[in-house]
Amino acid sequence: MFQSFHQPSAAHNQRNATHKALSGKIALLVSAIALSSLGCTPQAPQQLAFEPNYLFAHRLTVEQDVPTDQFLSDSKDLLIDWFGTPDNPKLPPAFADSDYAELISLDTMRPAVGPAPESIEPGDHGLYRQLCTSCHGETGQGRGTVAASQNPYPRDFRKGVFKYKSALRNSKPLKSDIAHVLRHGLAGSQMPLFNKLSDKQIDALVDYVVYLSIRGEFERQLLAMGTADLDPEESFNSDPTKRERIYDVSYRGSTVEAQAEAFKDQTSTAEDLLTEIVDKWIEAEDEVEEVEAPEDVPVPGLTPEADIDADALSASIAKGRELFVGSVAACSKCHGDSGKGDGKQLPDYDEWTKDWTVQINVKPDDMNAILPFLARGGMKPQPILPRNLVEGNFRGGRDPIAVYRRILYGIAGGPMPAAALASKPGEPGLTTDDIWHLVNFVTSLKTTPPASSEPATAEPSTKEPSTKEPAASVTIR
Ligand code: HEC
Ligand code: HEC
Repeated sequence: MFQSFHQPSAAHNQRNATHKALSGKIALLVSAIALSSLGCTPQAPQQLAFEPNYLFAHRLTVEQDVPTDQFLSDSKDLLIDWFGTPDNPKLPPAFADSDYAELISLDTMRPAVGPAPESIEPGDHGLYRQLCTSCHGETGQGRGTVAASQNPYPRDFRKGVFKYKSALRNSKPLKSDIAHVLRHGLAGSQMPLFNKLSDKQIDALVDYVVYLSIRGEFERQLLAMGTADLDPEESFNSDPTKRERIYDVSYRGSTVEAQAEAFKDQTSTAEDLLTEIVDKWIEAEDEVEEVEAPEDVPVPGLTPEADIDADALSASIAKGRELFVGSVAACSKCHGDSGKGDGKQLPDYDEWTKDWTVQINVKPDDMNAILPFLARGGMKPQPILPRNLVEGNFRGGRDPIAVYRRILYGIAGGPMPAAALASKPGEPGLTTDDIWHLVNFVTSLKTTPPASSEPATAEPSTKEPSTKEPAASVTIR
């Protein structure tokens, strides 16, 4: 059943009671970490700030056995200089470049930015905090106040990975893909649809999501570069040419030549990392393959209805079923012979969880091992389930071209693999016609439209109370 997002169900609450108790302890521990690393006293009034990526920093510390405090603090300084704060976002100098300026602009994102409006109607500012933060978090870290009870968890944008898009699996989505997700929601997940917003409001939210994603991915890259290339022991060397820092804000504007040089080196290394990320967003347009309707396979929703031969369609569905359970496509391995998502595959996790668990040899179900990660913002690992295709909730949409892309490319960030296409005719593997047979088969599985087949509309007028007062800057919930 789909739960409306402002009222997590009693069942949900109960199921998560233990988790919540644990979260309480974690919150305390984390506030301590956050406060000590930011050097502020609990009484000091706090400016709303983006939350540093403690989780990824800790992952690097564990993996490479190096301290990351200085790197976190450096990247925080750089991120403030280049990306500003939640109330006053900026774009890095590189965005003066016209390609980048076309990708996202402060003007376009303005309605999404800043404190939520006083009124319950979505207005011309604060849309992100009003409509998204309760799930996705202020920083886009996917850990808003109501996130813990959800499965899947709200997306953490900072990894730069998006699932439902027209571009290839490893590409960034197009901005139009993100807009589509906002207008249609993700059926069968808690992600609501926002179909009452104007184009201008949607555009603002899309730009803001891209901004948060670029910012978050840049932070990860900075930290990874720091731990890989820099020696923390040299971070305070008095000789600026030997001092190893990601970013030394005290050198900004320095007239001492060696310091100015060092600062220039730091910013140019950072700019290279940033450019790599932003270029991938720009290049996504080129990573979209046109999908053409097949000549020999009738596809409902694509082939003109009058041209659909019922026998040919049944034959295609039967062929699809055969492929589905066969050894080449092997869909039933995960989705089960019936397509109900009950295959014999062992439980698996998504990339967001694997990032700080299996990728560094931490077992997702080893509570003692994961506790320090949960304390730094990790979400309690929950296995990702193969979709129940009979229920018919296709998050990327039931439009045949969307389903075709899902099967051909797989779904980024999780175990759903790309289809094993034959490298050339006659070689083992699937043909594009086979993919269409699979499309016909999986879309034929839904018997009756279930009540939960559409995501809930986010009623802007029933505002999540907690979004009225933004959480203090560094509290990790
Ligand atoms: C009630 C919780 C909730 C709210 C509110 C919410 N989301 Fe989501 N969102 C989710 C969940 C859960 C997912 C992940 C679904 C999945 O992985 O299948 C998600 C995924 C996404 C994605 C990723 C899509 C992809 O292709 O990977 C984007 C982008 C997104 N949300 C943007 C927003 C924006 C912008 C808002 C506010 C206008 C918003 N969301 C509000 C829960 C929410
Ligand atoms: C290794 C396990 C695995 C295999 C093999 C697999 N899937 Fe999936 N599939 C998944 C998982 C997990 C999801 C849910 C992904 C998510 O939510 O991120 C999924 C989701 C889907 C969806 C839902 C798309 C949407 O828009 O929501 C479809 C359709 C689908 N799979 C079809 C197939 C077909 C057809 C095959 C065979 C060619 C296949 N799958 C093979 C694991 C698998």
